[in-house]
Amino acid sequence: MGNLDMKTLLSNSVFLFISCLLLLFANGSLANVKTHYHDFIVQATPVKRLCKTHNIITVNGMFPGPTLEINNGDTLVIKVTNRARYNVTIHWHGVRQMRTGWADGPEFVTQCPIRPGSSYTYRFTIQGQEGTLWWHAHSSWLRATVYGALIIHPKHGSSYPFPTPRRQATLLLGEWWDGNPIDVVRRATRTGAAPQVSDAYTINGQPGDLYKCSSKGTTIIPIDSGETNLLRVVNSALNQELFFSIANHKLTVVGADASYTKPFTTSVLMLGPGQTTDVLISGDQPPNRYYMAARAYQSAQNAPFGNTTTTAILEYKSAPCPAKKGISSTPIMASLPAFNDTNTATTFSRSFRSPRRVEVPTEIDENLFFTIGLGLNNCPKNFKPSRCQGPNGTRFTSSMNNVSFVLPSNFSLLQAHYQGIPGVFTTDFPPNPPLKFDYTGNVSRSLFQPVPGTKLYKLKYGSTVQIVLQDTSIVTPENHPIHLHGYDFYIIAEGFGNFNPRKDPAKFNLIDPPLRNTVAVPVNGWAVIRFVADNPGVWIMHCHLDVHITWGLAMAFLVENGVGELQSIEAPPPDLPIC
Ligand code: C2O
Repeated sequence: MGNLDMKTLLSNSVFLFISCLLLLFANGSLANVKTHYHDFIVQATPVKRLCKTHNIITVNGMFPGPTLEINNGDTLVIKVTNRARYNVTIHWHGVRQMRTGWADGPEFVTQCPIRPGSSYTYRFTIQGQEGTLWWHAHSSWLRATVYGALIIHPKHGSSYPFPTPRRQATLLLGEWWDGNPIDVVRRATRTGAAPQVSDAYTINGQPGDLYKCSSKGTTIIPIDSGETNLLRVVNSALNQELFFSIANHKLTVVGADASYTKPFTTSVLMLGPGQTTDVLISGDQPPNRYYMAARAYQSAQNAPFGNTTTTAILEYKSAPCPAKKGISSTPIMASLPAFNDTNTATTFSRSFRSPRRVEVPTEIDENLFFTIGLGLNNCPKNFKPSRCQGPNGTRFTSSMNNVSFVLPSNFSLLQAHYQGIPGVFTTDFPPNPPLKFDYTGNVSRSLFQPVPGTKLYKLKYGSTVQIVLQDTSIVTPENHPIHLHGYDFYIIAEGFGNFNPRKDPAKFNLIDPPLRNTVAVPVNGWAVIRFVADNPGVWIMHCHLDVHITWGLAMAFLVENGVGELQSIEAPPPDLPIC
C-alpha cells in the first residue's frame, strides 16, 4: 500500500470516527446520560406523629426518605449502609432491572439481607421508563417507614406527551403506626391473628389536619391561578388500598407505574399499595385552600381497617391570607367515596388505556391460571392456643395456586439459581390450581389450608406469558394489588366472578391496554395480564399488601438466560450480601 493510500485511509477513518461521535451526540446516547451517585444511610431516627415520638427506621434521617430524580436512560449507583438494628434491603419498585436482577432488592429473592453494620451498592440503569416509581425496604415490614419517590423525567432532549406543567409535586400516601411496625408484624406472626391496623394514613409522612397533634406539619402544595401542575401520587401504604381526591378539582390521569396513559379525567383515584398515578390539575378554581385527601378502599368484608382520612392542602398562592396570623382558615373539604365503593374503584381502573396501539403478545407460550387469596391453617398440635388466635383457633395464611410461599434463609433464590445450589427451591409451581372449584362461591372449609413451599415457575427466555389472576372467596374475597418484579405487563381484561375461558377472551383489549407493574385484581373477580419474558433472573410476584406477603401470597418466576451476553443476567457484583 502506497503512502497516499495510507493517508486517505487515515483521513477516512478520522472522518468516520468524527461522524460517529456526532451521531452519538445527536442521539443523546453519549452526550447526556448521567450516572447519579447516592448514599443511603439506614438508621433509627426519632420522629413525632400523633403527639408521640417514636424511633423509626429512616434513610438519611428523612421521613419519607430522599427523592431520587433522574432522566430516562440514566444510571443510579446507590450505596446503602445499614446502621439500624434490623436486616434491610432496598427495592426499586417498578424499575425493570434489565439483566441486573442483583440490584432488585427483595430479601432472600435476589440478595441476602444487608446486616446491621454492612453495606451494599445497587447499580442499575433506567431503560425506556418515564414517570413515577418509588423505592422501599423489602425486608419484614420496614417499608412502613423506609420509602421514597423515584422520579424519572423524559430522556434529555425529549418532553412529556402533554404540555410541560408549570410545577410538579409528589404525594406519597403512607400509613403510620403509633408504635413499632416491626413489633406489630412479629406479634401477628406469633399469634397467627391479623396484625393490628395502622393508626393514621399520611401524605408525605404527615397525617394532616384531621388527626390529633398533626395540623402543624400538614403538607402544603402550591398552585397558581391558571397554571397546570403535575401531581405524582404514590400509594406507599403498607396494607391499605386508598381513594384520593382534591376538593373541587378534576384530575386528568396521564401516567401510571412509569408508563404514559391515554389522558382521562376523573374526580377520584384508587391506588393499591405499589401503584403510582400521575395526574394534571389546573388552577381553575377561585383562589383558596383546598383539601387533598385519601382514605381507605376496603373491599374485604368484616375485616378491620383504619376508617380515617389523611389530608394535604392545595393552596393557591394568590389566596387571601388567613384571618389571624398562625391560625389557618379551614380549607374546603374533599369528597371521597365510601370505603366499600367497589363501583368507583372499578370505573376508575377500567378507564386506563395505553396512549396508542401497542404490541401485545398474541401467540401465547405459557397460559397460566393463578388463584390468589387467604386461608386458615388449623392449629398445629404442638402450638399453644396463644399462637392460634385467628378465627376459631386457627392461624391466618395466604397462597397462590394453593402454595403458601416460603422464603429461603440460607441463600437468595437468585444466587441458588446462578450458582446451581440444590435444595433451596423447586421449579414445580403449578401452572393451574391443583383443584378446580367455584373460586368465588361458597368454598368448602376443607380447601382453606394451602401447602407451604418455595416453588418457582420456570420461563424460557423470550416466551410469551398470559396469567389469569383469580381472586378466591376463601376466608373473604378481597381486591389484591398484585405486583410483578422485573417486568411491566399489559392488563388486557378484568371482571367479576370466575374467569370464563370460553366467554371472557372476547373482552380482551389487545389494542391499547395499559402497561403497569401492579394490578389491583377486583374483589371476587379476576384480571388477565400478558408480558414477554425478556429479562433473565428470579422475579417475585406478590400481593403488595404486606400482611399478605407475610402470610405467603407470593410466587417467583425463574426466567432462563437466552442466547449470548445480551440475553443473560450479568455476573453478581462483588459486594453482594451473602447469608
Ligand atoms: Cu414494591 Cu416486592 O415490591
